[in-house]
Amino acid sequence: MRDQLCTEFLQWALPHLGLRWSGFRKVRGQVCKRIQKRIRELNLPDPRAYSAYLEQHPEEWQVLEPLCRVTISRFYRDKGVFDTLNGDVLPHLAETVQQEGKTVIRIWSAGCASGEEPYTLTLLWNFLLHDRYPGLTLDLVATDIDAALLERARRACYPASALKELPREWRDRGFVHKDNLSQLQPAFQTPVRFVQQDIRCQTPEGPFDLILCRNLAFTYYQCELQVQVLRRISEVLAPHGVLVLGTHEVLPEDGGQWQNRTPEFFEKIK
Ligand SMILES: C[S@@+](CC[C@H](N)C(=O)[O-])C[C@H]1O[C@@H](n2cnc3c(N)ncnc32)[C@H](O)[C@@H]1O
Repeated sequence: MRDQLCTEFLQWALPHLGLRWSGFRKVRGQVCKRIQKRIRELNLPDPRAYSAYLEQHPEEWQVLEPLCRVTISRFYRDKGVFDTLNGDVLPHLAETVQQEGKTVIRIWSAGCASGEEPYTLTLLWNFLLHDRYPGLTLDLVATDIDAALLERARRACYPASALKELPREWRDRGFVHKDNLSQLQPAFQTPVRFVQQDIRCQTPEGPFDLILCRNLAFTYYQCELQVQVLRRISEVLAPHGVLVLGTHEVLPEDGGQWQNRTPEFFEKIK
């Protein structure tokens, strides 16, 4: 019953925030727990009463918005994506960048949570590709809206559960393990710069050779907001650049003007 009421509440509230229910179906537990806590803080009986409260107190939407963020991440999430990055995309970008006479591959990890995604890339580059391209380095900008997650990312210290999908050898070589926590070696942290940004209205300075926007805009946002985010991404993606989506994500159909760009622009890794 509780779950049913929370589902009803989310189906009503999410569109007010530019979010869509279908993205939340499987992960609603995390969000419902936070909303229940807020309802208790307000001394309200249930989610229906919270809906009425929101209608009477519009400023409450700003409290609700962060409660609706899904923050799940882990190293090497969706192994196939990183295998394709290693076997195909990064070598292709490395050749292109070298032909242009540059020495840096620029990458943006959007919605980077506690750094699991950008740090997986620095591990992958160092362990698998650096020897082939010794003259090239990675320069990563990793953005997230959540200051606490970014603080954790800068500390780069993780529980075992965050690392469970990483190859054993990478865990051994990439981290110092102490008291059930694993500290990423400084050399793998150096190429990543963390910046607090809201992807709905901010982008880091491009151009980027590679942009990862996984399990954020194209899962949780309504179509109109997805189109706006895609426009922002298109503005900072290099002409030869590659955009990586989450494994279950597709780009919005209303592609507008940027669908005239070359097909590589939309390259997706499944
Ligand atoms: C589900 S996690 C995905 C993390 C990582 N990209 C992955 O696929 O493992 C979504 C992340 O997006 C962040 N986020 C949510 N809304 C955001 C916004 N408006 N701007 C930037 N980041 C946002 C959340 O804080 C969270 O860390």
